[in-house]
Amino acid sequence: MNFKLKIWRQKNRKSPGKLVDYDVRDISPDTSFLEMLDILNDNLIRSGGEPVAFDSDCREGICGTCSLTVNGEAQGPDHPGAVCELYMRKFRDGETITVEPFRVGSFPIIKDLTVDRSALDRIVQAGGFISARAGSAPEANTILVPKHNADLAMDAAACIGCGACAAACPNSSAMLFVSAKTGHLGLLPQGKAEKYRRILKMVRTMDKEGFGNCSNYYACEAVCPAGIPAAFIARLNREYTVAAARESVGATY
Ligand code: SF4
Ligand code: FES
Repeated sequence: MNFKLKIWRQKNRKSPGKLVDYDVRDISPDTSFLEMLDILNDNLIRSGGEPVAFDSDCREGICGTCSLTVNGEAQGPDHPGAVCELYMRKFRDGETITVEPFRVGSFPIIKDLTVDRSALDRIVQAGGFISARAGSAPEANTILVPKHNADLAMDAAACIGCGACAAACPNSSAMLFVSAKTGHLGLLPQGKAEKYRRILKMVRTMDKEGFGNCSNYYACEAVCPAGIPAAFIARLNREYTVAAARESVGATY
């Protein structure tokens, strides 16, 4: 298969960027999207050009590192899945494919297709943990967890922290990410004690980092590679309201 690529090139955070045209030829349909970019980079290096900077690590949809907007869609057109799980057979032979970084004000561009998503780390550092000593793994049945809660916590724990939810949202909201983290920890007995403090701190850090509020477009849910449902945002909103009300009458966290 042959493709025409339009790839965002930008030297660094401060310099202006632009889409640059490239051709890639004789690509097997079973080549992954990132392998196709590797092939392009090999060709660029051989011809004395500058390879395209992009992020990847696990290349199997579990680390959240690859973060590309392909033909206008965060994580590309094969949902649910990270862009490293996207294969060239998803495109038409001869198709023009536009590749851009995630477009979120809180994710400044580092170079070309790589962005700085440490804002998500700072949100987690604000409260996305439990501070009780958990010790070694206990016998599974010593702490009883209702099956429904265990299932929901497991669903939320699937979040890989990629930031595609914020990239897809017209308001650059990271609510799906925050709701997955608060949902996962708050549903389990070990995380419940700090639930309200965690929610207030994580939501306030999210605001401080410049992410918008949820605007009910559901664009986050549509692109999330982990299939996190937007219902977790509703859960977060309910619990934030309770946490803020308790705080306003003197509760300290
Ligand atoms: S909620 Fe989904 S889209 Fe958002 S960071 Fe987690 S895995 Fe990525
Ligand atoms: S490289 Fe790890 S999720 Fe894509």
